[in-house]
Amino acid sequence: MEYSNVTIMDHPLIHHKLTVLRDEKTSSRDFRALVSEIAMLMCYEATRDLPLEETEVKTPVAVAKTKKLAGKKFAIVPILRAGLGMVDGMLNLVPSARVGHIGLYRDPETLMPVEYYCKLPTDIPNREVIVVDPMLATGGSAIDAISQIKKRGPKNIKFMCIIAAPEGLKALCEAHPDVKIYVGALDEKLNDHGYIVPGLGDAGDRIFGTL
Ligand code: PRP
Ligand code: URA
Repeated sequence: MEYSNVTIMDHPLIHHKLTVLRDEKTSSRDFRALVSEIAMLMCYEATRDLPLEETEVKTPVAVAKTKKLAGKKFAIVPILRAGLGMVDGMLNLVPSARVGHIGLYRDPETLMPVEYYCKLPTDIPNREVIVVDPMLATGGSAIDAISQIKKRGPKNIKFMCIIAAPEGLKALCEAHPDVKIYVGALDEKLNDHGYIVPGLGDAGDRIFGTL
């Protein structure tokens, strides 16, 4: 499966951290730290195309002709709950980013997303948005969250997840072909309960210790 708008990470640090993250023996404390670190590494890749402008800065030696980000109009939108675990790592790289929140959970019977909260920066039409969630399983939550955010008219939307199932990736690409997608690892399949195989279990429960 290959899509032009999908980037699958292939970096030794991400491979290594993902291995520890998947391990059922990893504690909630370590799990949270790893989710944050992986999100930071992925954010580096997902911000590669941010626009720059020419500038000058006076060093102690001379004036340097250099570059800076053109505007700071960037927003991170985690899908609650598990997406929250990715925010701090990304803010480490882009401290001026605004943070919106969208609350969805999967109905355990139907696996359909149920929205319960949405609070986005008021100037969202001027911002580039990265929607984050560690898991892309059926794709229902990401598709729905992005549809809700699109209604508020942001300039551009990207989606970042740590682990994706092929089924969810296909569904998201088909529903939102304009959205660039960044994936830490593409796994094998979904099981009958909508869990990613091999995956890492329930990301929200492992982050917040609610197992
Ligand atoms: C998990 C995960 C995604 C969703 C992915 O959240 O964090 O949001 O499932 O599944 P999907 O692609 O099939 O929609 P969950 O619904 O368990 O809620 P939580 O983060 O509050 O635990
Ligand atoms: N949500 C999770 O947290 N894990 C999965 O494997 C699927 C959905």
